[in-house]
Amino acid sequence: MSLPETMRAVEISRPGAPDVLRPCTVPVPVPGHGQILIRIAYAGVNRPDALQRAGAYAPPPGASPLPGLEAAGTVAAVGPGVERWTVGDEVCALLPGGGYAEYAVTPAGHALPIPEGLGLREAACLPETCFTVWSNVVLRGGLLAGERFLVHGGSSGIGTTAIQMATALGARVFATAGSEEKCAACRGLGAERAINYREEDFVAVLKTEGGADLILDMVGGSYLPRNVKALATEGRLVQIAFLEGTRIELNFAEVMMRRLTITGSTLRPQSDLAKDRYARDLETHVWPMVVRGALRPVMDSEFPLEEAAQAHARMEGSSHVGKIVLKV
Ligand SMILES: NC(=O)c1ccc[n+]([C@@H]2O[C@H](COP(=O)([O-])OP(=O)(O)OC[C@H]3O[C@@H](n4cnc5c(N)ncnc54)[C@H](OP(=O)(O)O)[C@@H]3O)[C@@H](O)[C@H]2O)c1
Repeated sequence: MSLPETMRAVEISRPGAPDVLRPCTVPVPVPGHGQILIRIAYAGVNRPDALQRAGAYAPPPGASPLPGLEAAGTVAAVGPGVERWTVGDEVCALLPGGGYAEYAVTPAGHALPIPEGLGLREAACLPETCFTVWSNVVLRGGLLAGERFLVHGGSSGIGTTAIQMATALGARVFATAGSEEKCAACRGLGAERAINYREEDFVAVLKTEGGADLILDMVGGSYLPRNVKALATEGRLVQIAFLEGTRIELNFAEVMMRRLTITGSTLRPQSDLAKDRYARDLETHVWPMVVRGALRPVMDSEFPLEEAAQAHARMEGSSHVGKIVLKV
């Protein structure tokens, strides 16, 4: 496959609102040792892309400054030391950055085959949420079959994945969302109870059920003390974002008296080795769920690459349900 020297991409021209995302032409990246170059068909859009665009989430050292954390497409070149993939293979992959482009490089171990029965468009929306949900809900949060699991932001890209994965693992799933339409979507994915947080108190709902064994939260702020109240004895709270803020007063005696665990993580700064491990776990445990239809990316909308700004505006308007994707 002969490769061009330059490619179409979308760059962050300066920190700011969605309109700072601008189409540009940049050199095609070259895969280094252990890396593959992917010719991207579709790129997933994620909330961390908006944080990066706003100047609040810098790419890790060595990563492309272009936004874009996941994509699906065809392997266009392989670097030295890559054994698993060859040119022409179709893959979806977690990217260190650079997904809003025609080509991107990523460690070979962060790529996965396209699950049988899925197209590249849907597969592009799997990596970021599956890596995040698996590592936080299963590995960090230790979710077990039969446990009560509460996910906030149930209609988000992360939320729709978490509901389906936890349901497939045999947990009892509760979700919060900001409208009746979003709650209906959560129930349709397997949540036994969806709580419209504008009308109902999730703490009261969970308490009548005996408390949550595990909560996956992206809201933070005023939700922190309320999450603590909603947890059952020995419950775990896993924090993956703080949409409402990071500072709050909290009575830690409750954490001690009820033997609670509060933890959290962000995916992007973790080592390549850790992400390799998550990828192999996903292939073993989660890809079969996708193949049998128990976990499917919920597709909200598609925008052409050059309209990434409109895609971000839709995501930040929060009227979407599920994933937004860019067609390259
Ligand atoms: N730690 C990690 O490694 C990691 C990785 C990926 C994503 N994340 C985080 O996970 C979250 C979800 O990501 P995503 O890509 O799935 O995003 P998304 O689809 O845009 O979801 C965000 C959702 O949060 C809900 N929400 C609740 N309170 C909110 C508030 N105060 N402000 C804004 N939204 C609020 C919104 O729905 P309602 O209408 O129901 O409010 C919205 O659907 C983001 O915060 C993202 O940064 C973390």
